[in-house]
Amino acid sequence: MARILIATEKPFAAIAVKGIREVVEQDAGDELLLLEKYTDKNQLLDAVKDVDALIIRSDKIDAEVLAAAKQLKIVVRAGAGYDNVDLEAATTHGICVMNTPGQNSNAVAELAFGLMVMAVRNFYNGTSGSELKGKKLGIHAFGNVGRNVARIAKGFGMKIFAYDAFCPKQAIAEAGVTPVDSAEQLYETCDVISLHIPVTAETKNSIGADLVGRMPKGGLLVNTARKEVIHEAELIQLMEARPDLKYVTDIMPVAHEEFATKFPGRYFSTPKKMGAQTAEANINAGIAAAKQIEAYFKNGVETFRVNK
Ligand code: 3PG
Repeated sequence: MARILIATEKPFAAIAVKGIREVVEQDAGDELLLLEKYTDKNQLLDAVKDVDALIIRSDKIDAEVLAAAKQLKIVVRAGAGYDNVDLEAATTHGICVMNTPGQNSNAVAELAFGLMVMAVRNFYNGTSGSELKGKKLGIHAFGNVGRNVARIAKGFGMKIFAYDAFCPKQAIAEAGVTPVDSAEQLYETCDVISLHIPVTAETKNSIGADLVGRMPKGGLLVNTARKEVIHEAELIQLMEARPDLKYVTDIMPVAHEEFATKFPGRYFSTPKKMGAQTAEANINAGIAAAKQIEAYFKNGVETFRVNK
């Protein structure tokens, strides 16, 4: 009987945990353990000691955690981005790492519009704002979330553009979106930019003055991706020089206090990342993670493996 631990500093909805328990205990006859809302890394180090599998969200699974997990065979990040897992250390320990792509992407896309509407309506401060209809939306990276953003943007009547360094222009066009040749062109063209790039060595600090400074007057930058992709110092400098620009984010910047103090009415951050925090996304991603673990144990299925 395998022992599977859900370790979530930001817990799933209870209904999702119930669904995961059904897959693990009723369907597969394994044991499910739960560590939620932990406040100290030692709690995680202790909880992983004798488990075979781990289901996580943005929880940091570094070399120390992996070394402490002597029985661990698989980690599934219930979600898309796996920048929180030390893949090299996992490979060294012979641990398989997977994600569950697409399972929470609608939730994140919907939140991007929640942030967008709030920003163009001046944060509901009673003054006259503007509408999304007819505005040019630039989707920066056309993966699962970007595609959902495009689908929703059509309902708002926006003009939709996208740039993705890895997605062929034809695939973007087939989704009814206008592909552009470069990130520079996307930012020059669009009134609103919605970020959907992962954190990699190349994308870290890549969204700064050069790109955002190209946006037309009144530009709005929406970040439901990762804080690390933003060059915070450059963005602060740029927003000081360009009082027309707004920044709304679902991932609190390191310099949150500075943004909040310097740019009242032009900046907002959720206190905790809320994009994937819906019952539906929790159920989809959590149950997918549990099923992937059981399929890996039973049949060695490695479809969504992200390390070597
Ligand atoms: C993801 O990468 O799947 C999203 O950023 C959601 O992250 P979360 O599970 O920590 O909310």
